[in-house]
Amino acid sequence: MTRIVAANEKGVAEAVDALRAGNLIGLPTETVYGLAADATNDEAVRHIFVVKGRPASHPLIVHIAEPEQLFDLSDQVSDACRTLIDHAWPGPLTVIVPARASVSRVVTGGRDTVGVRLPAHDTAREIIRKLGRPVAAPSANRFGHVSPTTAQHVADDLGDDVDLVVDGGACAVGVESTIVDCSQPTIEILRPGAVTEDDINELLTGMHTRAVDGTSGEARAPGMLERHYAPRATVLLYEHRDDLPSGADPVIDCSHDVASAARSLYAQLRSFDDAGRRQVHVVLPPRRGLGYALRDRLTKAAAGR
Ligand code: TXA
Ligand code: MG
Repeated sequence: MTRIVAANEKGVAEAVDALRAGNLIGLPTETVYGLAADATNDEAVRHIFVVKGRPASHPLIVHIAEPEQLFDLSDQVSDACRTLIDHAWPGPLTVIVPARASVSRVVTGGRDTVGVRLPAHDTAREIIRKLGRPVAAPSANRFGHVSPTTAQHVADDLGDDVDLVVDGGACAVGVESTIVDCSQPTIEILRPGAVTEDDINELLTGMHTRAVDGTSGEARAPGMLERHYAPRATVLLYEHRDDLPSGADPVIDCSHDVASAARSLYAQLRSFDDAGRRQVHVVLPPRRGLGYALRDRLTKAAAGR
């Protein structure tokens, strides 16, 4: 079993040492836990793909501690992209930008663009700052499974395949970051998240550009169109509480407090799997704001069964 360390000075120092040695760690963020490696160490980054069972063509998000680090990774940051990060960072927003030649193509899955995020989690930022390099991190689950939102989830999923997991508490947001492609003239939202389409378009007001929903377009963000975010149990979806069959059990009702539903959704799906439940009934949230992101994940969790 891997070690879970506290998010104190000693834990942070151990995490930084592990990354420096080319090892993988479980990194707390405000969205979900990441499986992190030094983004400049190709061998360590390759190890992420092996541990996750993830195809080498699926790019990883690069996490930074200060906004200026974005310019080390890209020399083509548009005004619209700057506006978004000025307002939404630190936070659950990943921007896709053209990558400098110096950015490892192991990290980008062979692409000439890179996804970058500045997480709103003090411990994550402290670890990245002390390492002095960007950190590549996908969600710390095995490929195709539900993302982890506690340190224990990471340990349960990855066991000894991670050197240590830093316990930064339960994730405050609970669903993965919004991904916005800023590498093209048209700004596209590739994955919905807590930074919503309305938030983005409000920020872009007066910039002669608007973000479009790119979630159902071509598979520009690999790994997001197939069945994903899936527990072992069959997930059954309902628009309204009234639609539930009588005796439906267990039920996860996301229709009232969407933020709190997002925070606990993945932990609940995991706990029902642990309890050996075969079916989980889920009442969907309204199709707006964070509810849109939650519906995206739930639809994928329910697909293909
Ligand atoms: O909230 C999050 O974003 C979490 C935490 C750990 O930061 N990370 C996360 O990573 O969800 P991951 O690997 O599970 O999902 C990253 C998604 C993938 O679908 C990948 O295809 C997309 O981001 N992505 C990354 N770089 C990209 C790029 N250059 N072009 C297109 N898509 C990219
Ligand atoms: Mg993931």
